[in-house]
Amino acid sequence: MTKDTGAKDTHATKLGNHTLSPETQMMGYGYDPMLSEGSLKPPIFMTSTFVFKTANDGKEFFEVAYGKREKRQDEELGLIYSRINNPNLEVLEDRLALWEKADKALVFASGMAAISTCLLSHLRPGDVIIYSAPIYGGTEYLIRNILPEYGVKSVEFEAGGTGPTLAAAIEKAKKLGRVAVIYAETPANPTNDLVDLVACKTEADALEKDTGNKPLIIIDNTYLGPIWQHPLEHGADIVIYSLTKYIGGHSDLVAGAAVGKGDIMAGVAGFRTILGTMCDPHTGWLILRSLETLKLRMTAAGDNAEKIATYLRDHPKVGKVNYLGFLGENDPAYHIYKQQCKAPGATFSFTVEGGEKEAFAVLDALKIIKLAVSLGGTESLMESPYFMTHADVPDDVKERLGVTPAMLRISVGVENADDLIADLEQALSVI
Ligand SMILES: Cc1ncc(COP(=O)(O)O)c(C=O)c1O
Repeated sequence: MTKDTGAKDTHATKLGNHTLSPETQMMGYGYDPMLSEGSLKPPIFMTSTFVFKTANDGKEFFEVAYGKREKRQDEELGLIYSRINNPNLEVLEDRLALWEKADKALVFASGMAAISTCLLSHLRPGDVIIYSAPIYGGTEYLIRNILPEYGVKSVEFEAGGTGPTLAAAIEKAKKLGRVAVIYAETPANPTNDLVDLVACKTEADALEKDTGNKPLIIIDNTYLGPIWQHPLEHGADIVIYSLTKYIGGHSDLVAGAAVGKGDIMAGVAGFRTILGTMCDPHTGWLILRSLETLKLRMTAAGDNAEKIATYLRDHPKVGKVNYLGFLGENDPAYHIYKQQCKAPGATFSFTVEGGEKEAFAVLDALKIIKLAVSLGGTESLMESPYFMTHADVPDDVKERLGVTPAMLRISVGVENADDLIADLEQALSVI
């Protein structure tokens, strides 16, 4: 799939001197129809294994796949086995990498598979991971409860807020062991607090000067990427996606991705092969289809979110609306927003007057917006972070980070914004 017929370069990123945009490239990049009977869309390669022309081919493909030697110039490698590589996944990975201008993308069975494979490939017993809070509940559970079983310690810092800063966390972590990873989710789920990506890079470089060891910077970009934020441009080493969210975009699949520099991703790819955490071809094909409308969907959802956030801000029963578009120039997060985000996104949280009873009453009264966890789909979803997505996070941590029983999170979809506002109006009227 990565070779072409010579008629057309399927990996061209320019037309003459004109640089092509990713939204254009999503329709054809990395796929040559002439290798598949002229089929406009890539067929789904539902196969576990691939036939070698000769035994020597098999030997050579394995030598490169298992890192025994580098690929020779002009060597045409074939496929081996779908846990190692598959045409649908290769096209998908090539297209995902374009959005981030990255060397390499890898796709996984879920966002958590991407996160855990990246962390396991880099962390060793005695290492320390520094992570931002709040963070997705599954990631928090992995770092707080599972990694310690493998001898990996963790130190938390706060995205925004008044809690421990990144610099303080690094000072503390240095005393515990090798600081191997700085892991951040920005904007943070569910508060939309921001982590300064440039500061992460500055701190990582300072730590390298100090100790000779540079921590890997891993950023979960599920909320804003890949349309509205590009962490690799600000010094991140790996960008993580739950493809289940905006990139898949139709709430009909679960998948994940890690995108980054070639040498770092090679190590992750080796772990993925052995852990078997890769995405399957059918899901990969669905994501290829989704990528064709990614910019359209995210733009429409972002426009709707602005209208809904504005409506909620003016509602008498609504307290704080954590929408990035409302950050004022005097807000400490404003400069971070301007530095690294291109738009406020389409998922945000807000509080209602009262507590659990009132928040649940609003959720139960919704008629158009669905009461469900997850985000980034075509349909709008609402949930209670305190009792649902972040149920795993200790209550005292949630309270400290402002995740309260009165908080609701909305992922705004691509419906008509006035219809969504009418639904919120009637649901809020019950409290
Ligand atoms: C920000 C973020 N990262 C990672 C994940 C995990 O992704 P998945 O559910 O695809 O494993 C989620 C899931 O909700 C998430 O919201």
